[in-house]
Amino acid sequence: MRRAIYPGSFDPVTNGHLDIIQRGCKLFDEIIVAVLVNPEKTAFFTIEERCDILGEVLKTINRSDCHVKVESFAGLMVQYAAEREANAIVRGIRAISDYEYELQMALMNRRLRPSLETVFMMPAEEYSYVSSRLVKEVFQLGAGIEGLVPPLVEQRMREKTK
Ligand code: PNS
Repeated sequence: MRRAIYPGSFDPVTNGHLDIIQRGCKLFDEIIVAVLVNPEKTAFFTIEERCDILGEVLKTINRSDCHVKVESFAGLMVQYAAEREANAIVRGIRAISDYEYELQMALMNRRLRPSLETVFMMPAEEYSYVSSRLVKEVFQLGAGIEGLVPPLVEQRMREKTK
């Protein structure tokens, strides 16, 4: 049983995240999409909202035979991954600029738990500039975000700002 953790803030989930999950499904039997509970970060969606949206949109993607589930976690990610008996952490890398931060995290996580491998995956080029931060920024400034996030995310963002 190959189980991976795909950790992140997912505030909100983007089409880039979903692309990575679909690619991860080709490698793993189970992927746990793990939403970080981070009280220090001001979020657009609450943890419950993010998990709920993820649960809904994950029903719509091609998961092959992979079991994909959503959980939230707090504290050290490697600790959480160990509790879930995961073999790997999946992270998406869009550009070289992501690499430095991701490499630091991967090496720190390796130091903390050497048996846990980090697997970097590249999204489709069309998502190489898509980030949750920019999606929120352009949405809040009135621009359309169609094609960058699933329609449900845009709908929930509109409802939230009514
Ligand atoms: O989507 P993000 O915000 O880039 O995800 C970052 C995340 C959740 C992967 C990272 O902040 C994390 O793992 N946080 C949990 C706390 C932890 O383990 N910190 C040490 C990382 S080396």
